[in-house]
Amino acid sequence: MVIAIDGPAGAGKSSVARAVAEELGFTFLDSGAMYRSVGLAAMRGGRPPAEIAPRVRIELSGGRVELNGEDVTESIRAPRVSEAASRAAADPPVRQAMVAMQRRLLSEGDWVAEGRDIGTVVAPDAALKVFLTASAPERARRRAAESGAAVEMVLTEQAIRDQRDRTRAHSPLEPAPEAVVLDTTNMTLDEVVRRVAELAREAIKGL
Ligand code: DC
Repeated sequence: MVIAIDGPAGAGKSSVARAVAEELGFTFLDSGAMYRSVGLAAMRGGRPPAEIAPRVRIELSGGRVELNGEDVTESIRAPRVSEAASRAAADPPVRQAMVAMQRRLLSEGDWVAEGRDIGTVVAPDAALKVFLTASAPERARRRAAESGAAVEMVLTEQAIRDQRDRTRAHSPLEPAPEAVVLDTTNMTLDEVVRRVAELAREAIKGL
């Protein structure tokens, strides 16, 4: 079974998806980590992400991310990698390779998967689709608090990435028609986790 949690950067997807997965005893899938890994590999190799994506080996387990056998959990969070990941994610052959990998993973077991296109493309049959949002300044504030960067700088870079993620021709960021849209601007993390877990339990009961 798949619970899909999509939305823009800083809406709280990762923290929420991780906590909900733990509560339900499901496995957490961070699909953004896969695009970040491709972005990092492309940066390092000086080759286009589309060439790299079909060949990389990405392993996600126990909260760690491995790229071709190397632990890149921390290095994929660097701002330059965020930028490279956003570019890589706009490239159709990259998306094709990542979606295929994600579908293979999700085909067995119980998952809480977070990303941008889980409910729309990767797992259109997900038992529950949640689209998390928050105002742009609030999302920038949260991300700045996490990274220690200046809010203004995060806000500027976020606007560029948001624009690219929303307007790309392939799988632009948008809620699935049947997604529950949750604006978390004025909610605490605990409140969001409780709400999503409640929705998930209802979905599981209804199956
Ligand atoms: O969630 P994140 O910041 O780790 O994602 C990194 C980039 O990958 C971001 O630009 C959005 C993109 N992405 C995507 O296009 N589709 C996904 N399912 C997950 C992430």
